[in-house]
Amino acid sequence: MIPGSALAGLHGMLQCSKNPWRKSDCIVAVQIWKWNLMKKIVMMLLLTGMLTAGSVGRAIQVQGKKEMVLDGGRLGKVPFPHHTHQTVLDDCNRCHRLFPQTSGAIQQLISQKSLLARQVMNQCRNCHKEKVKSGEKAGPVKCTECHIKN
Ligand code: HEC
Ligand code: HEC
Ligand code: HEC
Repeated sequence: MIPGSALAGLHGMLQCSKNPWRKSDCIVAVQIWKWNLMKKIVMMLLLTGMLTAGSVGRAIQVQGKKEMVLDGGRLGKVPFPHHTHQTVLDDCNRCHRLFPQTSGAIQQLISQKSLLARQVMNQCRNCHKEKVKSGEKAGPVKCTECHIKN
C-alpha cells in the first residue's frame, strides 16, 4: 500500500485502529503521510520566506531624488517630479532603460555621445502623448509646459 495523499494517510490511520494485526502496514502508511505533510510545510515556509525577501528587497530599493531639474538646453530647464512617476508607472525601466539609476547619468552618456538629449525628451513626451490619446492622466506635451525660462 503506497498512499500518496493525505486522504490515503487518513485511511491508513483508520485501518490502524480497525485492524490491529496489520500494524506494520499502518505505521508505514502514517509515516509516509506525515512525511508528505512535512514536505508541504517546508515548501510553504520556503515560499513565504522568498516572498518576504522579495518585498524587503523592494522596500530598500534606492529611489533617488523626489524632485529634479533637468537640463533642457536653449529652451530652458525642465522640472521633473521623479517620485510622482515612480508611483504612477509600474516599471522603473520605462525611463531607466535609456540611462542607469545614478545621479548625472544622462549628462555623462550625452558627453560620451552614446545618448542624445532629444532621446530623453522624446521618451517623456511620447509617453505623455500616448496617455493623452488613451484618455488617461498625463503630463505636459507642449514645449513651454515642460521647459521653463528663468
Ligand atoms: C519617468 C522617468 C523615470 C522613471 C519611471 C524612474 N526614473 Fe529614476 N531617474 C529619472 C531621471 C530623469 C533621473 C536623473 C538622471 C540623471 O541625473 O542624469 C533619475 C535618477 C534616478 C536615480 C539616481 C539618483 C538621483 O536621484 O539622481 C535613482 C537611484 C533612480 N532614478 C531610481 C529610480 C527607481 C528605483 C525607479 C522606479 C521605482 C525610477 N527611478 C523610475 C527618471 C525616471
Ligand atoms: C512612461 C510614461 C511617462 C514618461 C516616460 C514620463 N512621464 Fe511624465 N507623466 C506621466 C504620467 C502618467 C503623468 C501624470 C501623473 C499624474 O497626474 O498622476 C505625468 C506627469 C508629468 C508632469 C506633471 C506632474 C504633476 O504633478 O502635474 C510632469 C512635469 C512630467 N510628467 C514631466 C516628465 C518629464 C520631464 C519626463 C522625462 C524625463 C517624463 N515626464 C516622463 C507619464 C510619463
Ligand atoms: C515632457 C516634457 C518636454 C516637452 C513637452 C518638451 N521637452 Fe524639450 N526636453 C525635455 C527634456 C527632459 C530634455 C532633455 C533633458 C536632459 O538632457 O537631461 C529636453 C531637451 C530639449 C532640447 C535640448 C536638445 C539638445 O540637443 O540639447 C531642446 C532644444 C528642446 N528640448 C526643445 C523642445 C521643443 C522645441 C519642444 C516642443 C516641441 C519641447 N522641447 C518639448 C522635455 C520636454
